[in-house]
Amino acid sequence: MYQIYQEINKQLNKALNTAFAKEALAAKKAGESLNPQLMPASKPDFGDFQVNGALTLAKKIKQPPRQIAELIVIQLQKNKEFNNLCYPPTIAGPGFINITIKNDCLCQELLRRLNDKQLGVPLVKSNDQTKELKPIIVDFSSPNIAKEMHVGHLRSTIIGDSIARVLSFRGYQVLRLNHVGDWGTQFGMLITYLKLVIPEALTTPNLINIGDLVDFYRKAKKRFDEDEYFQKCSREEVVNLQQGKQESLKAWKLLCEQSRQEFQKIYDRLDIELCERGESFYNPFLRNVVKDLEKLGLLVEDEGAKCVFLENIRGKEGKPFPLIIQKSDGGFNYATTDLAAIRYRLQCHPNGDGAERIIYVTDSGQSNHFSSVFQVAKRAQWIPKECKVEHVPFGLVQGEDGKKLKTRSGETVRLKELLDEAVERAKIDIEKRLHEESREETEDFIHNVSTTIGIGAVKYADLSQNRTTNYQFSFDRMLSLQGNTAPYLLYALVRIAGINRKGGNLGTTEKSLKYNQPGEWRLIRELLKFDEVILAVEEELLPNRLCSYLFELSQEFNRFYDQIPVLKAKEPERSSRLVLCQLTRDILKKGLSLLGISTLERM
Ligand code: ARG
Repeated sequence: MYQIYQEINKQLNKALNTAFAKEALAAKKAGESLNPQLMPASKPDFGDFQVNGALTLAKKIKQPPRQIAELIVIQLQKNKEFNNLCYPPTIAGPGFINITIKNDCLCQELLRRLNDKQLGVPLVKSNDQTKELKPIIVDFSSPNIAKEMHVGHLRSTIIGDSIARVLSFRGYQVLRLNHVGDWGTQFGMLITYLKLVIPEALTTPNLINIGDLVDFYRKAKKRFDEDEYFQKCSREEVVNLQQGKQESLKAWKLLCEQSRQEFQKIYDRLDIELCERGESFYNPFLRNVVKDLEKLGLLVEDEGAKCVFLENIRGKEGKPFPLIIQKSDGGFNYATTDLAAIRYRLQCHPNGDGAERIIYVTDSGQSNHFSSVFQVAKRAQWIPKECKVEHVPFGLVQGEDGKKLKTRSGETVRLKELLDEAVERAKIDIEKRLHEESREETEDFIHNVSTTIGIGAVKYADLSQNRTTNYQFSFDRMLSLQGNTAPYLLYALVRIAGINRKGGNLGTTEKSLKYNQPGEWRLIRELLKFDEVILAVEEELLPNRLCSYLFELSQEFNRFYDQIPVLKAKEPERSSRLVLCQLTRDILKKGLSLLGISTLERM
C-alpha cells in the first residue's frame, strides 16, 4: 500500500498547508514543516492509517487539538483525490484523525497487482534517465581454500543470497562476489608440507580430497609452529608464489581447484549463484595501496610495519589502534586486500566494477575489521560521495544448548552432513505422515518433497531470525509444520494448489470483485503490504522482515481458508475469492523465491 500511503500523505500535506497557511509559512521560515505524522493505525478498528500531527501542531500554536483536527478534515474532504481514495475521516480521542481506504480503491489495487509481474513492487530507476544504474556488489559466502566451509559461511551464503535476490527483484544490477581466501602464507605451509609427504598431490588433479586437505593444513600449521627449518621453507614458498614461479603457481591452482569443487557441491544443493573473485585477484594492486597511502601521508612506520593509526578506535591502555597495511617481513594483510578490493569495486570501467554500493555479509566478529578498513578508505578518499559501503553482520550459529554448534562427538559440523540430516529428517516426517494418512506416493515424490522441505527449512530458520542475534540451530523446530517455519508456509501453498486442482481456476481476469466478509478484507489488506515489506528489506537488509510478513500472510490465508467457503460459494463470490487465493499464491511463491526457497504443489 506504499503508493496509496504516499498519495494520502501528499493530500494531507496539502490540506495542512491550506488550513494553516499562516502557521505553515511561519514553520517554513523556522525551517520546520507541519508534519502530519501519518502512520499505520494502531488497531484495525481505527481504519488503515492514523494522523497524529494535529496534537503536535496544537501544542505549538496553543489551540485545542480537536479543533485543529477538524480543520484538517474539512480541508481533506475538499480534495477530490483524497475522496477517491478514502472514506470521510473520523476524529477520535483528543484529536487523532483516523483514515480508512475505500473498498473500491483496495479492489482496484488488488486487480492491478494480479496482472503485475512485480506484484506491486516498484522497479528502481536511475535518477538520471540517460544513465544506467550502477551495480550493487554483494560480497558473501567467501570461504577459505584448503579449509572447511563452516556454519558461519553457510549463514553468510544464505543471507547474502537472499539480499542479492531482493535487490535484483527491485531492478538493480547485482554482482554476487565470492571473496574466497585463496592467497597468503597458508599456501606456503601447505605446499611445503605436501612436498614432504605426498608430492604427487601437487601435480596430479584430484589425488586428495578436501577432507584430507583440511587435515594436511592442520598438520602443516602444527609443523610450522614447531620446526624452524620448515618455517624457512614455507616462507620461501610464499615468495616463490608471489613471484609467480611456475611450479608453485601450478600447485596453488590445483589446491584451489580441489576446494572449489567441494564448495560448488554445496552451492548447487543450495541453488546459489556466485562469481568467484578471490583475494588473489587483488594481489597486483596491493603495492599501490601502500604507495598511495604513503603519498597521502597516512602511513606510519611502527616496529617495522607500515600502518595507519585509526581515529576513534583505541586499543589497550587507550593507545590509538593501528591497522597494519604491510607487515615488517613485507607481507600484506587481509585488510590490505580489502582496501585494494574497495578501490577496484568502486572505480569505473575498465579499471573496476563501477559499483555504487558494496554490501559485505560476514559474522559480527569482523565488524572491527570492516569499520577500520572503511575508515582508512574514507580518509584516503577512495569512497566517492555517492557510494556506500556497508557491513551486514550476523550472529553465531549455536546448538540447542546455546553453545557453539558441534556434532554429538564434539567435532565441528560439516555442511554436507548438516544438509543431509535436514533432508533425512524431513523424509522421516513425510513417510510417517503418508503412513498415517494411508497415502501411496512414489520414491521420486518423497525424494523431491524431502529435499525441498529439508533445504528450505535450513534456509528459512536462518533467515527468519533477526540476523544480528545469535541463532540456535534446531532440526526439530525448523522442520515443524507449526509456527514460523518453511513447512508451514509451504503448506499454505499446497492448500492453494489443492483448490486449483479441485477446479478453482487460478489465473482469472475477473473484473467485478465482490467481498463482504471481514476475513476477506483482512486478507486483502495483508496482501497489499508486500511492496512496503520489500522496500523495508532493501533499506534495512533484514530478510527476517520478509519472513515475518510471509508468516502473517499465511496465517491470515489459513483463517480465510478455514472460515470462508471458496469452491462451494456462488458467483461472484467464488471468483472473487479465487482472486485472493491466486494473489496469495503468487506473493508466497515470490516471497519464498526471494529467500532462495523453492515451493511444492503437493506435500
Ligand atoms: N574469507 C573470509 C572468512 O572466511 C570472509 C571474507 C569476507 N569478505 C571480505 N571482503 N573480507 O572469514
